[in-house]
Amino acid sequence: MILLLMGPPGAGKGTQSKRLEEAYGLVQLSTGDMLRAAVASGSDLGKQAKALMDRGDLVPDELIIDMISARIEQDDCAKGFILDGFPRTVPQAEALAAMLADKGLSLDHAIELAVDDDAMVKRITGRYTCAKCGKGYHDEFEKPAKEGVCDKCGSTEFTRRADDKEDTVRNRLDAYHAQTAPILAYYKDEGVLSDVDGMADIDAVTAQLKGVIGQA
Ligand code: AP5
Repeated sequence: MILLLMGPPGAGKGTQSKRLEEAYGLVQLSTGDMLRAAVASGSDLGKQAKALMDRGDLVPDELIIDMISARIEQDDCAKGFILDGFPRTVPQAEALAAMLADKGLSLDHAIELAVDDDAMVKRITGRYTCAKCGKGYHDEFEKPAKEGVCDKCGSTEFTRRADDKEDTVRNRLDAYHAQTAPILAYYKDEGVLSDVDGMADIDAVTAQLKGVIGQA
């Protein structure tokens, strides 16, 4: 199965991808996570992407398309995957369709997490992750059971993303509406688009997504 979760920054794409990964035995492919790993490793790609990401601008299509096409060739993707943060432009959507067609595959569902922009700033500026295992948390909406201790791995170190500052978040929201929202029409025409209420609480959003996707 191949799924695509869409929505503006903070809509819950990462949070829900991790839950669907476990529920359906799929692999989460987050272009944002891949780019942050490239920045951390100091690779050429990371050097080209860093300033753009810090401003909240999109990274050029050709870099992203090369990165994702290499990733979906890896063995773990054979069981199916969840696209989180890709495609983000019409050329990326067209490149994805061509990549999948080459493999005799197609997208099963493109699901939009429909949210209010204003609430996204609060979601993003309150977000943090475990520095060891990457589990995501929020200051208000998703706290660890024991304060300061990761539920999953017990680590006491956490990090916040460099692009999660309010000004940058507003630029990321603008980029979403100008460059990414137009591909909703593309997937509607393809007959694979659904939407769920991304303003519901996290468990309720997962339940809606499972309702769209169906049984594992
Ligand atoms: P990326 O990492 O993809 O960031 P994004 O799209 O801005 O999305 P986020 O990760 O911020 O939000 P999310 O929807 O995953 O929300 P989350 O689940 O964490 O991209 C970063 C940058 O990389 C881009 O700006 C660009 O520069 C570059 N890039 C990446 N892909 C690219 C591409 N394809 N082309 C070009 N450039 C690219 O949730 C947020 C918080 O809210 C969490 O704390 C969570 O606990 C909480 N939360 C989640 N759901 C709920 C809920 N229902 N109720 C209450 N709280 C909730």
